[in-house]
Amino acid sequence: MPTQQKERLLQLARAAQQNAHAPYSNFKVGAAVLLENGEIFTGCNVENASYGLTNCAERSAIFAAVSKLGGPNVKIAAVAVVNDHNVPCSPCGACRQVIAEFGPKAVIWYQGRDGIKEATLEGLLPDSFSL
Ligand code: THU
Repeated sequence: MPTQQKERLLQLARAAQQNAHAPYSNFKVGAAVLLENGEIFTGCNVENASYGLTNCAERSAIFAAVSKLGGPNVKIAAVAVVNDHNVPCSPCGACRQVIAEFGPKAVIWYQGRDGIKEATLEGLLPDSFSL
């Protein structure tokens, strides 16, 4: 994956992070998802007064892609995730499972302890469940 793609994806994730609705955690997250067809979708976390209804940035971005293109056309090549505290933040378990559905071979970039880390979905969610 070219460095240029990574930087572009991170830049778009940072832009999406601006729209995060996080009045309860004050932790704003942005994500950008690159599809195999070259299209990019972005998302932010959207919290709710009923906390459990919160949607993570990664799932917001993926659901936007599915809503526009339909599931069979969503093939995720890469995901970038950033947060406004610049603290380590990899996709949560629920998001890993959702990424697996549309991008079992996806590359994931996220904020680690010393800057942006690169991982694969397979590395983050070995033996993932599928039907
Ligand atoms: N969050 C994300 O959007 N993505 C992640 O990868 C981790 C956590 C959100 C959910 C919640 O709104 C806030 O961050 C604090 O957990």
